[in-house]
Amino acid sequence: MRLGVLTGGGDCPGLNAVIRAIVRKGIDHYGHAIVGFRDGWRGPLLNQHEELTIESTRGILPRGGTILGTSRTNPFKREGGPEQIGENMESLHLDGLIAIGGEDTLGAANRLHAEHGLSVLGVPKTIDNDIGATDVTFGFDTALQVATEAIDRLHTTAESHHRVMVVEVMGRHAGWIALYSGVAGGGDVILIPEQPFDIEHVCRLIGRRHSRGRVFSIVVVAEGATPKEGTMEITDGDTDEFGHVRLGGIGHRLEREIEDRTGFETRATVLGHIQRGGTPTAYDRVLATRFGIAAIDAAHDGRWGTMPALRGTRIELVPLAEAVAELRTVSPEEYAVAEPFLG
Ligand code: F6P
Repeated sequence: MRLGVLTGGGDCPGLNAVIRAIVRKGIDHYGHAIVGFRDGWRGPLLNQHEELTIESTRGILPRGGTILGTSRTNPFKREGGPEQIGENMESLHLDGLIAIGGEDTLGAANRLHAEHGLSVLGVPKTIDNDIGATDVTFGFDTALQVATEAIDRLHTTAESHHRVMVVEVMGRHAGWIALYSGVAGGGDVILIPEQPFDIEHVCRLIGRRHSRGRVFSIVVVAEGATPKEGTMEITDGDTDEFGHVRLGGIGHRLEREIEDRTGFETRATVLGHIQRGGTPTAYDRVLATRFGIAAIDAAHDGRWGTMPALRGTRIELVPLAEAVAELRTVSPEEYAVAEPFLG
């Protein structure tokens, strides 16, 4: 078989581990050829590719990012995009394509398979941990470690200067990074997209803590967290090809608002892409490797339109349609674990 592979959407620690697993088992065990497409869906659209070999993928396991490059190109936003991908796959004599990505990349993979009959399967990735069909995505554990370490470090300044430190972490639709790093790092306020916040309640929590003799507070906020309607103004940013607004800004808005309302000196830190960068944790390397192995096995068996998912401790193949149907967000019960520690 000749199989293509691409990485789409935001980069994520563990992508190279998936590529390495696909190449290693694909070539060594099955005797397949693996073609790597450049920069997400842009690669198969523009026919930009390179042959991947065991030699060319050596040493990439601990490397962050993706050796294939990535983009947020949406093939369905290009005139004749899906047809072009089909033609390019045919001209390269590809039997199928493995798309490693988040909700957008997998959404496009699902449509290419379901609506255009292309032999495509997916591998779920995102630091946000919000893909519905899998219990965990690789990249999340690494982002969580980075965010927790940042909170630990910010405690120093918060305590020494008697400040409120606001830490903005990633999490567009789901607050997993904020919730888990907030719990692990001992955050005093944790704000997530699933639960619009009331700024007055936030300030009350901080005030209560200070009235009990604590002289500093840590507020962990997911970038996608929003105030309850009519309670605080925020501005929208630009959108990408999948219609996503460029986020980042809620931390600084909170900094001003908390300082104005409480009188406590407040500083915001936006962790941004630091959470996506650098070497994956051991957990992410192993999960990514397991996904890569499951993906090449699935491709070998012609299980197009599916994706490996972690269910409990087992890797299972699930339909791509199921994977993109719903986001995995934080439920009130899951958030409740943090509540006794707030304020
Ligand atoms: O989807 C992963 C993610 O890291 C989100 O948490 C974040 O909102 C987004 O990507 C940022 O994307 P970009 O790097 O394109 O600004």
